[in-house]
Amino acid sequence: MTLEEAKEKLVKYGQEHVLKYWDSLDGDEKEKLLAQIDRTDFAVLENCAKRGHTYPRGVFAPMRTMQLAEIEENRERFLAAGSEKIRQGKVAAVLLAGGMGTRLGSDKPKGMYDIGLTKHVYIFQRLIENLLEVVEQTGGWPRLFIMTSEKNDADTRAFLKEHGYFGYREDRVTFFMQDMAPASDYDGKVYMESRSEISTSPNGNAGWFSSLMKAGLLPLVHEEGIEWMNIFAVDNVLQRIADPVFVGATVEAGVEAGEKVVKKNAPDEKVGVVCLEDGRPSIVEYYELTDEMAEKKDENGEPAYLFGVILNYLFRVDALERISKGALPLHVVEKKIPHIDDDGNPVKPSEPNGCKFEQLVLDMIHEMNSALSFEVVREKEFAPIKNPTGIDSVESARELCKKNGIEL
Ligand code: UTP
Repeated sequence: MTLEEAKEKLVKYGQEHVLKYWDSLDGDEKEKLLAQIDRTDFAVLENCAKRGHTYPRGVFAPMRTMQLAEIEENRERFLAAGSEKIRQGKVAAVLLAGGMGTRLGSDKPKGMYDIGLTKHVYIFQRLIENLLEVVEQTGGWPRLFIMTSEKNDADTRAFLKEHGYFGYREDRVTFFMQDMAPASDYDGKVYMESRSEISTSPNGNAGWFSSLMKAGLLPLVHEEGIEWMNIFAVDNVLQRIADPVFVGATVEAGVEAGEKVVKKNAPDEKVGVVCLEDGRPSIVEYYELTDEMAEKKDENGEPAYLFGVILNYLFRVDALERISKGALPLHVVEKKIPHIDDDGNPVKPSEPNGCKFEQLVLDMIHEMNSALSFEVVREKEFAPIKNPTGIDSVESARELCKKNGIEL
């Protein structure tokens, strides 16, 4: 992109301030800034005016969950079917590691965080060790896609390489980078991270499939005959990945997606809950649960909206390709955005100061024609690390690891 073309694009979106320091930049910085202007989708900034806006929702109804007793009864059959799919290479794992992990407050990728006490136990290591158990159990090596972002790609790759992928086969690991969205002030003017760089952030946890396609990886998915993709969050250190029982149950149910869920630990726990919305799979956020929904009981007298999602989903590849033809809704999230001020000095805000734009995985679920909600034991499979202390923290995850016999 030439300077003239960049100017034209910026004028169109009212973002001329991006070139404020142009004359003081060196050749390299100029080139990088032009490339960033070229690839940035400034059209998303219009959505800033819609912050606080929620998309209209349909009619919610409870969704059946396959619970532990039913899974136990059928475990052997599910295990055999799932293991077969894994051995055949039809199941891939997708590690969502593009997030910024701002709550944890580390400036390194979250997966590099060391939760060990007497030895090193990195988050990436915990996840890969869990996946290696599946390798041992089934004899298959699920392709492991790792989604990074511009901000953490180099660190993540270098770290995993340095640690020999914690025992995973390097030829079964494929990295790709998530798309970024610009971050702006409340008037929709992009912030500048430096004199030569627009502030950006990853485009949300549902950006993974479009980013994988953009990275040119769909042919690989087809060549290898991958039929199912198991996406999972980086921060749950008890995460079971490519779990053959879950795979078997989802395949047998003949659905387009599987969702691992746990029983909520309190009626007001801040997790999304599986449900139907206008008859389709969906997730109702904790703040959308009405009193009536919270009090509703199922035929066994249990709360009808009881099972929370843990960001571990199986998606059928053909369904992903179908939904990739349409656009997912864009959510405006108010966040703290570091930037430079009018004099070019760096500012690290302590309060939210602007908007980021994200696509959310719950909207992907709603695009599925059918889904299986599959219960797992909370204490065995759910130890998310979001904060340094308190709820969902390094401390709480360490406790849960110890309870599961994991040496730290
Ligand atoms: P979170 O919603 O907890 O966000 O991500 P985060 O960025 O890691 O942390 P905070 O909110 O800044 O503290 C849940 C999962 O989704 C991934 C994260 O890496 C994590 O595995 N994620 C999130 C992405 O891969 N990309 C995104 O744009 C957002």
